Order: sequence, then C-alpha cells, then structure tokens
Amino acid sequence: MLRRLHHEQPESFAFTPPNQQWAELQMTKFPEGRQASAIIPLLWRAQEQEGWLSRPAIEHIADMLGMPYIRALEVATFYFMFQLQPVGSVAHIQVCGTTSCMICGAEDLIAVCKEKIAANAHELSEDGKLSWEEVECLGACANAPMAQIGKDYYEDLTAKRFGEIIDELRAGKVPVPGPQNGRYAAEPLSGLTSLTEHESGKKQYNASAQLAVDLGETVKRIDGTEVPILTPWLKGRDKSATKAEAPAPKAEPKKAEPKKAAPKKAKAAEAAPATEGTKPSGLETARGGQADDLKQIKGVGPKLEALLNSMGYYHFDQIAEWTAEEVAWVDQNLVGFKGRVSRDAWVDQAKVLAAGGETEFSSRVKDGGVYEK
Ligand code: FES
Repeated sequence: MLRRLHHEQPESFAFTPPNQQWAELQMTKFPEGRQASAIIPLLWRAQEQEGWLSRPAIEHIADMLGMPYIRALEVATFYFMFQLQPVGSVAHIQVCGTTSCMICGAEDLIAVCKEKIAANAHELSEDGKLSWEEVECLGACANAPMAQIGKDYYEDLTAKRFGEIIDELRAGKVPVPGPQNGRYAAEPLSGLTSLTEHESGKKQYNASAQLAVDLGETVKRIDGTEVPILTPWLKGRDKSATKAEAPAPKAEPKKAEPKKAAPKKAKAAEAAPATEGTKPSGLETARGGQADDLKQIKGVGPKLEALLNSMGYYHFDQIAEWTAEEVAWVDQNLVGFKGRVSRDAWVDQAKVLAAGGETEFSSRVKDGGVYEK
C-alpha cells in the first residue's frame, strides 16, 4: 500500500500549549544532540491532537527536533499507525482482518463498514464523522472478531452488534468497549473448564504451591524416594510413565535406594530388618480379596503401597490400630522410605479413612488429581 501525504493539507500546525509543554518534556529525555529520538512520541501526540498527521504537523515536529523534513517524513510514512489522511471527526474504526478474526466474521464487519461508513477504507463518511480501515492482528484473537475504536477494543462482535455500535457512535454515544457477547474477558463462553479448583474452594493454593503444601517437602533435597506425582493433564495418556512407576516390591530396594555416597556398611544396615519396636500383625491377603487404596494416605505412593501389601498391610483399619511401638517398627522396616509413617502421621489419616471419612488429600486422589488411575 502506498503511503503518501494527503492531497489536501491544512495551512499550519501547532501543538496546544499543554501538548507543546509535554513534547518539550519528551525531548529532555534524550542526550543533547539526540532529540530526534523523540520523533515517534511527538508524531503520535500530534496525531492524537488532530486525528491524523498533516504535512505541516510533520514539518513542525521536524523543526522542533532539528531534523531534515525527509527524515521525519520517512518515519511518518513507514509506520501504519500514523494516519496520513483525515479521519472521522468522531472515530476512526480499525477492523482486524487477520486469521482468527477473518474466520470468525471479519469480512461481515468490513461489509458493515462499507455500508454504514464509506465504500473504501480511509474514506470519510458523508457526514465526516467516521472512517475505517482493515488492520493486522491486534492481539485479541481469543475474542475474535474485533475492532479497535479510538483507544478501546470492541470484541466478540457480530455484524448486527457492530452496526449498532457504529450507529451509537454517530449519535454521540460511547458504547461500552470489551466483549459484546457477555464474556468478562477471554474465558470460555460456556463457563470455565480449567482453573476451577480455587473458585470451587477445592484447593487453597495454586498448582505447585498446593503440591508443596501437600507434600511438605518444599526444601527437601531430591534423593529418589519421592512420592510419584503425575500431572493431571497426563492422566490416561502416558501409560509408559505408569509402568515405570509400577510397584516392583522385590527389585525395589535396589532401584529406589537414594543415590547417596553412603558407605556400603550403612546401606547394608538399612537393608537388614530392624528390630526396634514391635511388628504389627499382618494378613496373608486382603480381606475379601479387596485391598483399600492405601495411596489415599498422604505419603503413600504406588511403591510404598506395594511394599505395605507385601508386608501384610492392606487396609486402613490395620494402620489405624498401630501402636507407637508398631509405628516405630514399620518406620524402621520401610526400606528406602524409613520414617514415613510418623513423618506423615499415617495412623491419624488411616483412622479418618477407616471410619469412612475423607482427608483433603484423599479427596484429591479420588478426583484423579494426584495419581493416574
Ligand atoms: S486475528 Fe484479530 S485480533 Fe488477532
């Protein structure tokens, strides 16, 4: 598109006194001799004052900045944001015609402009109040189709609503900008489908902050014994990840051992059954062949659940009845996970779950927000 000065030009240009003062202030922001750097803000101010950039305005600013006219003209003609012809006295309407808006009906909006304003872009309407042009993406694609009018965005437009807005502007009214279909911002029109936990009060904190609170492990060094947490959006998708996390009780001590530079003797000591405390009695197999989902206890992941099962512990009520002596024994004998029972207060959690209640953590496990089902 050729960008040339308009064939009709005013006799002169002058900033209003406050704008002149503002322009001089901008010039002081640059080192002596570099005042030309203020060219864009000054041209923009002139356009905001007059609606468009006339030749006298460009030359006036070039004089202020000590620039050859041609340099100022180069800037004014290069940037499409500068209007080089008169615009509507009430509003100049910029309709986005890029992909999202085009798919969603920008062509219908342009047809409205042609019908209600002028047949061609950059032409004044008959009453001189309005003009229009098609522009490239204005960055509001989630609210397509849209148009910028003055400084504001009018989004989620239909041809009908856009026509009404033009009529209102022509009548001297100022339609409320923003989405025109009832949306608050760019959320789904049918309601939120994500980020709903906070709104529903299910979670107190956001994302990893909630996870850190649940795990209580924010500053813990990674030693390979962490409870595996699957990201919700991988749910049902990454089966290989699940297999990798799948319990393998016999081989587990070797793989799950923290990679510390501990002496061999210390490793052997951990692997050997400890004698401290009293071993709680266990079951041969789960009652009725149906074990409880021990992963509902915070701190028990798939590996620990498998380990507990292999030790004869399948049910919440078994864990709920552990005495301090028994907790001490289990804590010592969870190879690779020592101390987890008391650290995460399994007995207290198990009492709630055995009674049919729920903890905040267990309800999240049931919702699939922690482990892949
Ligand atoms: S495509 Fe229209 S705002 Fe991005």
